[in-house]
Amino acid sequence: MPLNVLVLGSGGREHALAWKISQSGKLSNLYCLPGNPGTAAIATNIAAGADDFEAVATAVSANAIDMVVVGPENPLVSGITDFLKERFPDLMVVGPSRQGALLEGSKQFAKDFMARHAIPTAAYRSFTSATLGDAKAFMKTLQPPYVLKADGLAAGKGVVILDDYESACTELEEMFSGKFGQASSKVVIEQFLSGIEVSVFVLTDGRDYLILPEAKDYKRIGDGDTGLNTGGMGAVSPVPFADAAFMAKVEDRIVKPTIAGLAAEGIDYRGFIFLGLMNCGGEPYVIEYNVRMGDPETEAVMTRIGSDLLSHLEAAAKGSLAGETISIENQAAVTVVMVSGGYPGAYKSQYPISGLEKAAAAANVFHMGTKAAGGDIVTAGGRVLAVTANAADMVSAAGKAYEAAGEISFMDCYRRSDITKDLLKYL
Ligand code: AMP
Ligand code: GLY
Repeated sequence: MPLNVLVLGSGGREHALAWKISQSGKLSNLYCLPGNPGTAAIATNIAAGADDFEAVATAVSANAIDMVVVGPENPLVSGITDFLKERFPDLMVVGPSRQGALLEGSKQFAKDFMARHAIPTAAYRSFTSATLGDAKAFMKTLQPPYVLKADGLAAGKGVVILDDYESACTELEEMFSGKFGQASSKVVIEQFLSGIEVSVFVLTDGRDYLILPEAKDYKRIGDGDTGLNTGGMGAVSPVPFADAAFMAKVEDRIVKPTIAGLAAEGIDYRGFIFLGLMNCGGEPYVIEYNVRMGDPETEAVMTRIGSDLLSHLEAAAKGSLAGETISIENQAAVTVVMVSGGYPGAYKSQYPISGLEKAAAAANVFHMGTKAAGGDIVTAGGRVLAVTANAADMVSAAGKAYEAAGEISFMDCYRRSDITKDLLKYL
């Protein structure tokens, strides 16, 4: 039976998920809530917030939705999956239960889970203001730099890395005093891992799993990984240093025990797991779990899946992933993110965007922060567009992505010019 599918969220990740789902032979109607001007071209947008559970329930009833795919972490951590399953027992939901979402919603939960299941990660302890003295004593036992993590969700800003003991102590006190609100009333302090990061994506039904294409993200605003952290300035997949031997270690040491651990603890988990990994001299360590896909990694990853994503999502939601096989295209995908000047600090919006059609002739242009205004598409966020090109190899894909991005312009537009350059040495 063809499915009516609702994708929750409004960014480039959701546009890329919707784009891939829209190609499925199993699809009847596709909706996005709230979606964006990019998803409007391939789906019906429903104006509401993804955190407004009642509005989501109304959209599910009104459109006879068979499956909800949850894009962002916030509704998952707030329990949207449990809420929807209680309201609509037959609805398929791609996204973990509230309990499963703790893997992202609480750093301490995630670290304790890894410890229980012997999953490689940085040594750590967690503290509250009542144990400030112990926290400082624990830091003394570590080598700098010091890694401090707010326990709860802090919009991607809750991790602070400091080079000296004194400033780490000051930061710790500020975190306990509410620097990240409730999220930092508990703080995880951990060992610094040095290496190169890679993101690995898994789709699971809580028992079986598919490993999606891996990707590398570019977090800093400036070329050469300089300047402030952002949501992500680009992505590449495959990742040249994540070779078969490394990926086999990831599967054996991390993917398998993670999923077996969820099952053993009776945690209902049907959805994506995003493993933020550090490759330390060829050995994988988990830096963080996310309970959703990455953005902008999804905009690269989706273009490399050859098989029917909706079929995989249906199997994940129903618990029948054992029968699924994923096919992954050999070609490379490179995503260049175009941002508003000033981002990740203050920036202006509402600037008309030109060249979208020309760029779309050679690349997939996923909308991250745009809005329709009159007949125009205008900027409406820090990260505005994710331009993804595919080619036989990484160098050609990067050339094509930059060429397509070059067709697009808006006032004060900025992008990094070095996406993939750090990886040339691994080719
Ligand atoms: P997270 O929000 O947990 O992804 O952390 C943000 C960033 O901080 C990561 O992407 C890493 O670059 C860095 N990071 C987090 N934990 C560690 C660690 N234990 N060692 C080194 N870098 C880390
Ligand atoms: N690109 C990193 C993230 O989605 O968290």
